[in-house]
Amino acid sequence: MSEVLSDRQRERVDSRPDESFYGSPRYVTHADDGFLDRLTDLYAEVVPTDARVFDAMSSWVSHLPDDGYETVVGHGLNADELAANDRLDDWFVQDLNDDQTLPLTDASVDAVTCALSVQYLQYPGAVFREFARVLADEGVLVVSFTNRMFPTKAVRAWREASMDGRVDLVRSYVDATGAFDVQQVVRERPETDPLYAVVATRTPR
Ligand SMILES: C[S@@+](CC[C@H](N)C(=O)[O-])C[C@H]1O[C@@H](n2cnc3c(N)ncnc32)[C@H](O)[C@@H]1O
Repeated sequence: MSEVLSDRQRERVDSRPDESFYGSPRYVTHADDGFLDRLTDLYAEVVPTDARVFDAMSSWVSHLPDDGYETVVGHGLNADELAANDRLDDWFVQDLNDDQTLPLTDASVDAVTCALSVQYLQYPGAVFREFARVLADEGVLVVSFTNRMFPTKAVRAWREASMDGRVDLVRSYVDATGAFDVQQVVRERPETDPLYAVVATRTPR
């Protein structure tokens, strides 16, 4: 299958394996409280409380509301961060720039969340196809971001795009799967870290 990004668009300043960059845990948040509170509100709005959730590219925090959800499975690159995330029932470590195939069965989750991380994906076409595969029909995908990033690890296409261009990029990842209906594009630019999010639902098979 073809990829969404060209070889040039997926280039990064720091091309070393991602495990080395994420080898030490960072118990920090990657956006301010205004962003994070708004993201939690968005999850409360669009993720059903009985959902089985997959939090892709997670860390020690998932930003989900405190109550609800049947299960939350997390994924990331740092085992210590994931072990410290008390919202997760289970988790696994996997470098998605090395292997895009998720160890989850077809249609086994009702929501996929991916916060503040999509800019690091070099093969978003393959990863978003996996999101579509593991989501049950009409399950929800929430991809969120702000204007911050680790610039040496973000792909060229992201670094060189405006914020609206980044929204278009994420939409192109979603649309390339042919398996989602975009429901909502959030563009909120408060005084502090702006919240951008693409919310899509899995088209019934
Ligand atoms: C800025 S942090 C955001 C973490 C978390 N979602 C949050 O909101 O706090 C970026 C995350 O992307 C994940 N990540 C970066 N590169 C990755 C890769 N190649 N494969 C899998 N995950 C990756 C790491 O787990 C890292 O924690």
